[in-house]
Amino acid sequence: MEITDKVAIVTGAARGIGRATAVALAEAGARAIVLADIRQELSEETADLVRAKGAEPMAWETDVADLASLRRVVEETERRHRGLHILHNNAGIGEGATDWPEVPDERAASIVDVNLRGVILGTRLALEPMKRSGGGAIVNTASGAAFTPLPPQAVYAATKAGVVHFTRSCVPLLESHRVAVSCVCPGLVTTELVQESGPGGPAPWLQQILDAVEMLTPEDIAAQVLDLIRNPRSAGEVVTVANQPRKA
Ligand SMILES: NC(=O)c1ccc[n+]([C@@H]2O[C@H](COP(=O)([O-])OP(=O)(O)OC[C@H]3O[C@@H](n4cnc5c(N)ncnc54)[C@H](O)[C@@H]3O)[C@@H](O)[C@H]2O)c1
Repeated sequence: MEITDKVAIVTGAARGIGRATAVALAEAGARAIVLADIRQELSEETADLVRAKGAEPMAWETDVADLASLRRVVEETERRHRGLHILHNNAGIGEGATDWPEVPDERAASIVDVNLRGVILGTRLALEPMKRSGGGAIVNTASGAAFTPLPPQAVYAATKAGVVHFTRSCVPLLESHRVAVSCVCPGLVTTELVQESGPGGPAPWLQQILDAVEMLTPEDIAAQVLDLIRNPRSAGEVVTVANQPRKA
């Protein structure tokens, strides 16, 4: 799909990969970009970056784990911007500094709600508005953890495997709603998510992996998201962006 003049929602756009996608969409000529995140103050910073690239930002406080909150942002986007063409289901959380199986039940439930249920609900809510807009592209952020067992972050890894399988099962939406659903599976990216995996920085088990690879940047992932949006054959595509071994 052409990005010029399109209307997009990016969840988890306050920082990290979501912020980079929002800015890249603005650079690519999107007309309006809705920044849907629980961290409203940081979303306003992303809004300034989007505005500087010539697109119209709308920072809309949203909890993707809450159906009513997600419904409001989708409805308001369509109403205010007269359409919806692109959705990046990107918001995500991990176990944080308390590994599986010590992670509290409440946190485990939140990981499922944000990472998997949020993607499912967001996709369903976007379908009719996208159909009315002539079609759309949805890109989900999964993870390399969908394919590699990650014992300390078992709940996180399970949700990401779920996102991959959900994406592959959404292929028929192209015919029924003209909506292509795809997903990107990043390796390790320089964001706060990595920093918050341990008590005062990356968890020791993660640091060992970090020491062995070249980190990806949020912009690397945003570029892949835009490729998927533009690709007319992206429905069901699952694209991995892997880390390269650290150069000696
Ligand atoms: N950083 C990595 O190494 C890496 C690797 C693979 C996949 N990912 C995935 O990339 C996505 C983005 O993560 P990131 O690395 O940019 O981390 P990040 O923590 O910088 O960004 C995540 C964003 O999601 C938002 N968020 C959290 N819960 C939310 C909720 N309930 N509703 C709305 N927004 C919410 C946060 O406020 C934050 O702005 C996540 O899905 C993550 O699992 C990250």
